[in-house]
Amino acid sequence: MKVAIIGQGYVGLTIAAFAAEFFEIVGFDSNEKVVQQLNQGISHIEGIDSSLLSSRIKSGMYKATSHGEDLSQSDVIIIAVPTPLSKDRQPDLSFIDLACKTIGQNLSNPALIINESTSFPGTLRKFIKPAIEKYSTSQIGHLYAISPERVDPGRTDFNQKNTPRLFSGLTPEASGKTREFYSKFCDNLVEVSSPEVAEAAKLFENTFRQVNIALVNEFAQIAHSLGISVYEILDAANTKPYGFMKFTPSAGVGGHCIPVDPTYLAVVAEEHGVPATFIRRANEVNLEMSNYIVRRISADNGGELNGKNVLVVGVAYKPNVADVRETAAELVIEHLRSNGAVVSWHDEVVGTWRGESSVPLQGADIAVVVTKHDSVDEKRILASAPYVFDTTGKVKGARGL
Ligand SMILES: NC(=O)c1ccc[n+]([C@@H]2O[C@H](COP(=O)([O-])OP(=O)(O)OC[C@H]3O[C@@H](n4cnc5c(N)ncnc54)[C@H](O)[C@@H]3O)[C@@H](O)[C@H]2O)c1
Repeated sequence: MKVAIIGQGYVGLTIAAFAAEFFEIVGFDSNEKVVQQLNQGISHIEGIDSSLLSSRIKSGMYKATSHGEDLSQSDVIIIAVPTPLSKDRQPDLSFIDLACKTIGQNLSNPALIINESTSFPGTLRKFIKPAIEKYSTSQIGHLYAISPERVDPGRTDFNQKNTPRLFSGLTPEASGKTREFYSKFCDNLVEVSSPEVAEAAKLFENTFRQVNIALVNEFAQIAHSLGISVYEILDAANTKPYGFMKFTPSAGVGGHCIPVDPTYLAVVAEEHGVPATFIRRANEVNLEMSNYIVRRISADNGGELNGKNVLVVGVAYKPNVADVRETAAELVIEHLRSNGAVVSWHDEVVGTWRGESSVPLQGADIAVVVTKHDSVDEKRILASAPYVFDTTGKVKGARGL
């Protein structure tokens, strides 16, 4: 079976690395630099070792390409491209549309086409299938399925093999072939009754996290106003063995999923006349968190940040990854600068970002910990400035939420 995966980022490369144990994989990406690196055995994704990639290449089971014609003989094609929000915060399916164009224009035999990108219910049936048919030069009958990806990059306890995978085909034949494909490298396949259920389940999983993160962020502000530790309260509540799930406060949500996916659900809800009040409000609370943190820091420092040397520690959106997409550090830095602070940042995992580079962890008036990588020593953080504000709850002895 020949498998092509469109998009060789966090999702596409992760699938490629696992599936290449069983199938011949062509990893298609429109970014030629990424393709070149991958073919040299260099992985750009946390959790995928370059040594694993090299061994897949050596065994002839993996190659990367940016040539559409390399997809022509595929039996299975997986779509794993970005699904961001547009400038006016609407679902942006332009990457999916381009992927459909690549498939339509190049695929010369009937194939199973599986979407793993996150999108709203109806994307497979009403967007992907018609788009591929529109771009196809001949009338080939493909099979279509959805299997939303649940990978958490950098996580070691759950991976492609032991994370249950939802799936559904547009037809029973598509569902059957999808099960056959994933069962080679995934232990637990959960078939649902329609692609729309699988698409909506993925959005709801991430919305559940977004809303609960907003709730705990609001609660952190309430606890502070009451003069009690939010962390002690959460630990106390978490002793209840049922009906409670612990989320911890932070500077906001980041990454490609939690700040984005719930809006896909909200837009669809509102198109159907249902107000998505929780989702919209949760987004506002999470975005507002950066402002709250800067207000707290300012209040602790005599109400004045003008001219202060502020070091933001950790700009990745979560620990131990270099991913800065939608990172909460961006808004924290913006608010600090608009208050007149002179801001630099330390994050050796990220290295460079927005034309700026990581600076040494020392010599600031104020340090603000937004993300704490395991490699960054707590004592060094505390020694980097006379005043340290920690938004992660991991730096004992610092001020914090
Ligand atoms: N990152 C995650 O943790 C995660 C988890 C679950 C689901 N998802 C979803 O998976 C999808 C992909 O996310 P990602 O994090 O892998 O994105 P990514 O940005 O890491 O990778 C996407 C890759 O696709 C390439 N690309 C874009 N358009 C293309 C096209 N038309 N043809 C070929 N290549 C193209 C880009 O160059 C990039 O290398 C999104 O819908 C996302 O919401 C992501």
